[in-house]
Amino acid sequence: MMKLKNQFNSLVAFLFGLLVFLAASFRLQNGNWKAINAIASRKENKGECDFFSGRWVYDDMEYPLYNERQCRFMSDQSACMKFGRSDLVYQKWRWQPDGCNIPRFNGEKLLEKLRGKRMVFVGDSLNRNQWVSMVCLLDTSTHGSNNTMETHKNLMSFKIKDYNASVDFYWSPLLVESNSDHPVLHRVPDRIVRAHSIEKHAKHWTDADILVFNTYLWWRRKNMKILWGSFEEDGGVYKEIESLRGYELAIKAWSDWLEFHINRTRTELFFMSMSPTHSSGDEWGTDSGHNCYNETLPILRDGYWGEGSDPRYMHVVETTIQELKQKGVNVKFLNITQLSEYRKDAHPSVYRKQWDPLTEEQLKNPSSYADCIHWCLPGVPDIWNQILYAHIFP
Ligand SMILES: *[C@@H]1O[C@H](CO)[C@@H](O)[C@H](O)[C@H]1NC(C)=O
Ligand SMILES: *[C@@H]1O[C@H](CO)[C@@H](O)[C@H](O)[C@H]1NC(C)=O
Ligand SMILES: *[C@@H]1O[C@H](CO)[C@@H](O)[C@H](O)[C@H]1NC(C)=O
Ligand SMILES: *[C@@H]1O[C@H](CO)[C@@H](O)[C@H](O)[C@H]1NC(C)=O
Ligand SMILES: *[C@@H]1O[C@H](CO)[C@@H](O)[C@H](O)[C@H]1NC(C)=O
Repeated sequence: MMKLKNQFNSLVAFLFGLLVFLAASFRLQNGNWKAINAIASRKENKGECDFFSGRWVYDDMEYPLYNERQCRFMSDQSACMKFGRSDLVYQKWRWQPDGCNIPRFNGEKLLEKLRGKRMVFVGDSLNRNQWVSMVCLLDTSTHGSNNTMETHKNLMSFKIKDYNASVDFYWSPLLVESNSDHPVLHRVPDRIVRAHSIEKHAKHWTDADILVFNTYLWWRRKNMKILWGSFEEDGGVYKEIESLRGYELAIKAWSDWLEFHINRTRTELFFMSMSPTHSSGDEWGTDSGHNCYNETLPILRDGYWGEGSDPRYMHVVETTIQELKQKGVNVKFLNITQLSEYRKDAHPSVYRKQWDPLTEEQLKNPSSYADCIHWCLPGVPDIWNQILYAHIFP
């Protein structure tokens, strides 16, 4: 029965794909074609809204929210078009919640709120992906030639001079201290975490007005080495423990820091749920040798959830946030996992800057070096920021 249903879904997905493809081809010949938007009818907003359940709807009227080339601070990790991606349908999907709409992103309104203030994204490369999206959204909506980018160690600072505002990214992929904290040279085979220590990082962001955290991907391995003591001195005590347990310790250290150091009237707090990966096609009904490479359409099977997204980690954060709330610290958990799960088509795949030159063997088998973790921009992280925006202006 389940199998039949999956096959049916695949068929529907295929037919829909064909439709989009035909539509896109037809559109090339006829600039006014827009019938596919008929299925994109918008909903009325009625009060409280669950942004996190819904579906993707093709909408090339409103999306993309900016042009890849227009964003002066685009990252080569996300500039898929620049690195040769030619199917651009991935840029044109709107996330449609079931009972309402996500408000339109208004960069000037957000900048007005950020006047004289500082917003910081803290976490790993997926959070940096979201930060680059925010930078592009703001830069393209101000057209401000005065905007600048400054990098100082783990901190990258986008400054919007005309508003005296700063939108920053702080690299700390495990939130707490670890041997992966170097902003560039962080690819280390053996991961060591000081799971109780966050102050070295936190002192760079505690004073912010809006904080957006994430951490997940770097914990996704069975075990992790925890260090009691410091990296600089001898005599530290190491213990290998299950990663999930390490994650609990780290999230506890993070939450304790917020409880004692955050100015509750000043700082708004957000935590982004895990970003899914698409590295094994058998999870969505192609072969297991296949990954996000060559994928051009979202998964249409309702409730699709990949094996890479471990709900136990999500649960740790959720429980901790509930406890913080009882202590008067309000962190909003933005549950973007499900909506991103559907987007097997939206990763850079082979269309991004490669850190190391590709070998002959890799070139023969492109899926072997496809990036199925990060996201192309414009793309999925723009939607995360629209949802973030909706929570900043409830
Ligand atoms: C700019 O913002 C900072 C806080 O980020 C504040 O300390 C400073 O006084 C502001 N400067 C002006 C000229 O408004
Ligand atoms: C850049 O800043 C200067 C002074 O700070 C201002 O006069 C000018 O209008 C700004 N330029 C733009 C394009 O906003
Ligand atoms: C917390 O922030 C508010 C608003 O910015 C400010 O008025 C207050 O003095 C701050 N409290 C502390 C203890 O710094
Ligand atoms: C990728 O797509 C191209 C064009 O549709 C096709 O020729 C190629 O065989 C596909 N490769 C894989 C690994 O699916
Ligand atoms: C996040 O969303 C997923 C699927 O929509 C749900 O299963 C999960 O319980 C949610 N998690 C939290 C913490 O709200």
